[in-house]
Amino acid sequence: MAKMRAVQVKAAKSDWQLVEIDIPEPKPRTVRIKVQACGVCHSDMFTKEGLFPGTQFPRTPGHEVVGIVDKLGEGVQGFKVGDKVGVGWHGGNCGYCDNCRRGYFFACQNESAITGITYDGGYADYMVAPASAVAHLPEGLSPEEAAPLMCAGVTTFNALRNCGARAGELVAVLGLGGLGHLAVQYAAKMGFKTVSIARGKDKGELAKKLGAWKFIDSRSEDPAAELAKLGGAKVIISTVTAEDAVAATLGGLGTAGTLFILGVPQSLTVNPGMLVSGSQSIKGWYSGTSIDSQDTLDFSLLSGVRSMNETYPLEKAAEAYDHMMSGKARFRVVLTTGN
Ligand SMILES: NC(=O)c1ccc[n+]([C@@H]2O[C@H](COP(=O)([O-])OP(=O)(O)OC[C@H]3O[C@@H](n4cnc5c(N)ncnc54)[C@H](OP(=O)(O)O)[C@@H]3O)[C@@H](O)[C@H]2O)c1
Ligand SMILES: [Zn+2]
Repeated sequence: MAKMRAVQVKAAKSDWQLVEIDIPEPKPRTVRIKVQACGVCHSDMFTKEGLFPGTQFPRTPGHEVVGIVDKLGEGVQGFKVGDKVGVGWHGGNCGYCDNCRRGYFFACQNESAITGITYDGGYADYMVAPASAVAHLPEGLSPEEAAPLMCAGVTTFNALRNCGARAGELVAVLGLGGLGHLAVQYAAKMGFKTVSIARGKDKGELAKKLGAWKFIDSRSEDPAAELAKLGGAKVIISTVTAEDAVAATLGGLGTAGTLFILGVPQSLTVNPGMLVSGSQSIKGWYSGTSIDSQDTLDFSLLSGVRSMNETYPLEKAAEAYDHMMSGKARFRVVLTTGN
């Protein structure tokens, strides 16, 4: 049987291992993808640390996958061998359960699949994904450009296009990492008064280049007070995991403002009185489906939003992951296979 390279964790909290395994065969309603590029997301930590109950090991992570359809399983419609495609975090849905019929595809009761967690992802030469999880790629984006848009891109684009703010209203983006640097660009292109909040003055110039109207350095300034001076945020998009950073920004919400939680802190203490008196809300945001990914790719191509990437070959996945986790990546780390 033909072999391929894959990067796996053999058990929760164990080291990455580069292994040679059989190329997987597509089952009915799935497609096999020859992987060209795969982004390294902070959420790959869920696979490595085994944080999702029931994760089976060994497991190959990777949910920012771009490649070429290489083989079709039985009954697949809408894709053919040779199509350029991508797969994100949302790993597919049945299309007929109550949640799917309500449009809550992410909460599908039958598949509940997460790429790189409930099945093997894109840190490999090939992967197999349910056809419902696969997005078509437009012409004009390279695999390295498109890969980060499959999670960091779709999550921020989709949150922003559904956030309820109107053009000209103040939208703040907390954090300037993989998700944050894309959120700033999307928010600016959507016509929001975009405020970037990150640690360190050195990030200000870049935030402005990405389209931010104002930059707040959370090390030397109080983000809540600074946002309040600007009239308060209609929306805060939070991409950080540090609870204190979220708490320090929350008070900058304006009347009827909403904090969107994209990065997941372990916990968050809020003042309910503040929420009630300001008619404010806090909302979790889940990335998006394959059609949301297609919309993200199209919008990015149209508007010139691009991920800034550092690329590593697949064999250096461990190094690439550590670099992303260190917070030093500027801004997305992408693995390339050479396929
Ligand atoms: N909701 C979803 O569907 C979804 C999808 C994808 C990812 N996520 C989650 O989103 C989060 C971000 O992912 P990512 O890939 O963008 O990670 P990342 O590239 O590591 O970026 C996180 C950024 O947060 C910043 N940060 C950390 N602590 C901070 C603080 N105290 N104040 C201000 N900024 C701070 C870091 O900035 P510095 O440069 O200052 O260190 C870093 O750049 C992760 O929790 C991930 O699991 C959620
Ligand atoms: Zn992700």
